[in-house]
Amino acid sequence: MRAVVVPSYGDSSVLQYVERPDPVPGPGEVLIDVAASGVNFADVYHREGRYPLPLPFTPGWEGAGTVVAVGPEVTDVVAGDRVGWVNVVGSYAEKAVVPADKVILLPEGLSPELAAAVLLQGLTAHYLSHSTYPIRPGDDVLVHAAAGGVGLLLTQMAKLRGARVIGTVSTPEKEKLARQAGADEVLGYDDFAEGVKELTGSGAHVVYDGVGATTFDASLASLRPLGMMVLYGAASGPVPPVDPQRLNSGGSLFLTRPSLGHYAATREELLSRAGDLLGWVASGALKVHISQRYPLADVRQAHDDLESRRTTGKLLLIP
Ligand SMILES: NC(=O)c1ccc[n+]([C@@H]2O[C@H](COP(=O)([O-])OP(=O)(O)OC[C@H]3O[C@@H](n4cnc5c(N)ncnc54)[C@H](OP(=O)(O)O)[C@@H]3O)[C@@H](O)[C@H]2O)c1
Repeated sequence: MRAVVVPSYGDSSVLQYVERPDPVPGPGEVLIDVAASGVNFADVYHREGRYPLPLPFTPGWEGAGTVVAVGPEVTDVVAGDRVGWVNVVGSYAEKAVVPADKVILLPEGLSPELAAAVLLQGLTAHYLSHSTYPIRPGDDVLVHAAAGGVGLLLTQMAKLRGARVIGTVSTPEKEKLARQAGADEVLGYDDFAEGVKELTGSGAHVVYDGVGATTFDASLASLRPLGMMVLYGAASGPVPPVDPQRLNSGGSLFLTRPSLGHYAATREELLSRAGDLLGWVASGALKVHISQRYPLADVRQAHDDLESRRTTGKLLLIP
């Protein structure tokens, strides 16, 4: 099969598109013919070694396709099932081996391509809006990078829960997308804390910040007393250490740095969130914006585009 391999950590030039032996499913594993794999910032962090994996490895933290073989001891997945998965490495390939207890059966009528486009960022938006800070009707919610992959889904979910959404974006094109997803107000990044205070009076109930270094300080300043700062990513770079006294002076604020793995830790929780998510996609309640599909051979371009801040919505690699 053809697959992408990272032989050493570095920039996108380390990504190699190579011939590899077909993987063989072991006990409790299934072999999947990959229809599409999602491109995520986690893939960049794996490639750079910021989230280190043993070298060499095939990157890709999200995919979907059709089961073509199952290993011993697999009872609830069979060849022919259409499935998706997240948080198991190796989707940048024509075939991938995934533990059976990590696969999500796709509902009738939902294409594997759409599943690969929505699972990781959609499950993330789900736990952020329903569990980390369960949004209540009428809440003022600030969503950074509102036209990004997580941002467009999180904006829609916050609206489904009855929030007023204030989004930030860097371009007029992104503003248009954020508004189409339901954002009530859209700001640029300059002076957004003042903008949020003007719009809300006392500040946002919650800030969802996946941008990190460049937004963190103003995000804290955008919160009302007892507000929650949800730092869930670092697209612009990691946030330096924080003095807890800042949470006191900001108004007894809450700060959390959550991860999907901890909010989909059991099979039950994974399937419950995925059931909501894929149900909304199938019913049309949640729109998925796939902005770009790349042949797997063009993986370097996909990473460069994601990192350069040029993209909106979801990027897919098609083997
Ligand atoms: N904790 C979790 O469970 C979890 C799960 C999934 C993703 N994440 C994190 O969520 C964040 C968003 O992921 P995504 O895949 O949906 O990406 P994305 O939002 O589609 O892309 C990142 C966006 O961040 C904004 N940005 C601001 N400054 C930037 C900079 N210096 N460089 C690059 N982008 C910058 C850009 O939007 P503007 O141009 O509008 O500013 C850019 O489009 C990432 O930090 C990712 O690691 C976390």
